[in-house]
Amino acid sequence: MDVECLPALSGIRPRQRGGRRVQRKVHVRPACPARGERDHTGRARAGDLPELLPRTVALGVRRSETRAVTVQLDSALAADASVGLWLDPPVLPTKWLYDGRGSRLFDEITRLPEYYPTRRETSILTDRAGEIVAETESVMMVEFGSGTSTKTRLLLDAFSAAGRPFTYVPVDVSAPMLAESSAILARDYPTIEIRPVEADFTQPHLTLPHADGPRVAVFLGGTIGNFDDDDRGVFFTRVASALTPGDYFLLGADLIKDTGRLVAAYNDKAGVTADFNRNMIEVLRTGLGATGLYTDDFDHIARWNPVRHRIEMWLRARRPVHATFAALERDWDLAAGTEILTEISTKFELSALHEELASAGLAQVDTWTDPFGDFSLTLSRR
Ligand SMILES: C[S@@+](CC[C@H](N)C(=O)[O-])C[C@H]1O[C@@H](n2cnc3c(N)ncnc32)[C@H](O)[C@@H]1O
Repeated sequence: MDVECLPALSGIRPRQRGGRRVQRKVHVRPACPARGERDHTGRARAGDLPELLPRTVALGVRRSETRAVTVQLDSALAADASVGLWLDPPVLPTKWLYDGRGSRLFDEITRLPEYYPTRRETSILTDRAGEIVAETESVMMVEFGSGTSTKTRLLLDAFSAAGRPFTYVPVDVSAPMLAESSAILARDYPTIEIRPVEADFTQPHLTLPHADGPRVAVFLGGTIGNFDDDDRGVFFTRVASALTPGDYFLLGADLIKDTGRLVAAYNDKAGVTADFNRNMIEVLRTGLGATGLYTDDFDHIARWNPVRHRIEMWLRARRPVHATFAALERDWDLAAGTEILTEISTKFELSALHEELASAGLAQVDTWTDPFGDFSLTLSRR
């Protein structure tokens, strides 16, 4: 049965009404415990969760504080875990890699010698930011999965140089990273309005803030590769419906290339990606009150799936695992060698990607690749 575990944000709506915090009612499932440290919203499939009960949470930010929108509940991990961990093979959505520590580790990954995507996408943005600004004439940029927003600065520089009033809406599930990066951006870009939103971009009802002019939604870092083929199509359709004709969508996508380089990018010599992957065990342990669960009991695996054109990250149990999740009131037994799927990163062939965008109603305006042909940036128009 498909259920909404946390329909807390029915879309992406930073609430700003003259600096007041705005209280909204949402529904949470009492069976899904709050986690406190990090808040998530999300879609989940679960079998027998109890009836929805209302709870009031704050979804507002004070402009002067430039803080991330906060939703004081987190039952999504419990719902995702209760469904995914008992599948064969077990699976957990990629977003659970990004708690505060996971986000910092990912930031470290972007600077590793093996991790070419960030350098390649940065080089395209360096060359093309001016063209993107001139073409879109946008007054608002909404970025899904903004992280540190480091590369986005190239676009922010170009939009602020255009001299128009401009709003930047970074959207991310990682509250600590979102709060920190938004505060730094607000300091560095005093003429740009920064409106951070903590939200899950996989949620069914994607709505964007209103703007008095064209908007551009951006999705960088090759994060689109984290969707499987079906979910990617659904996401493109949701983005297209959230945009209005005349708005734009800027998509960064990693391209198919030599398998050795691909695998190395997800299995660096310094072991940072391994730590990033294993951090998911720590997220489960702390988030669900687990006993008998240790990161050292798992190996990081990155392998290329040639049929589905994707890197897959797995965690393989080094020994038999017998854990108990207090939050789920359930034991979790894994035989040695069992693998848990934690991330997919699909690599693309450009013409197929453009067809997918077009069939969602996003017509290609321009596409750029870096000089090595490793990475692509596609601008499409609604
Ligand atoms: C691969 S990183 C990319 C970060 C940045 N855009 C870049 O290009 O370096 C993915 C980002 O998306 C965020 N993220 C992952 N799943 C998400 C979800 N379902 N909803 C919102 N943000 C998500 C993560 O917290 C992280 O910041």
